[in-house]
Amino acid sequence: MKNYAVALDGPAGSGKSTIAKRVARKKQLLYIDTGAMYRAVAQFCIQNGIDTQKEAAVVEALPHIQIDVIAKEDGQRILLNGEDVTEKVRSQAAGKGASDVAVMLDVRETLTKMQRELAKGNSVIMDGRDIGTNVLPDAQVKIYLDAKVEVRAERRCKELRELGQEADFETVKLQIEQRDAADKNRKYNPLRKAEDAIEIDSSYMTMEEVENMVCSIIEKKIQEKRG
Ligand code: DC
Repeated sequence: MKNYAVALDGPAGSGKSTIAKRVARKKQLLYIDTGAMYRAVAQFCIQNGIDTQKEAAVVEALPHIQIDVIAKEDGQRILLNGEDVTEKVRSQAAGKGASDVAVMLDVRETLTKMQRELAKGNSVIMDGRDIGTNVLPDAQVKIYLDAKVEVRAERRCKELRELGQEADFETVKLQIEQRDAADKNRKYNPLRKAEDAIEIDSSYMTMEEVENMVCSIIEKKIQEKRG
């Protein structure tokens, strides 16, 4: 077995992107952050005055949205119609808009197709909500990363403050709860643990401990498959 895929799913703020980046570096995998792609669709809507809750308008905009994902040493860059929006898509508005457009079947099908193409011919670690269940159902390694909502809210506040944005704990916690509900209850490809995924609760673990655990799961799984 030459190439293999690691599907890393879980709710907002569970530490997926931090872990995916670290594991990608250690295991020489291509890191693909699929949430950034939903955020890029939302960013296009924000920049063009399109309401992210209006499905017809978002679907009409889709053919005008070109998303390029570029792998770099220190993570992924995301281009929206040629503009590097990697930092812009981290805003709360883009996150909320991403959650809105993620319920739309046309958006999901378009992005799922792109994500499968990106995974072809490479060993990848892909993070998102539906990677193990929908995008890469045959992934050799599936991990579901979770943490208590308070811990996730605290982590998100820290991330936002580091980006120079204001962050009130109670507001962020409420937003995360709303995001969880939207992600878990949507009709198409909702967030859920794949049957064959290994669950990790990172609430009381350091990122280093989670990274080591994920790396040893990968090594064990790949060895088993190689027989
Ligand atoms: O991981 P994130 O916060 O960047 O994701 C932004 C939104 O995109 C999130 O509300 C759910 C959605 N998303 C999705 O529906 N499917 C994915 N594979 C990745 C993200």
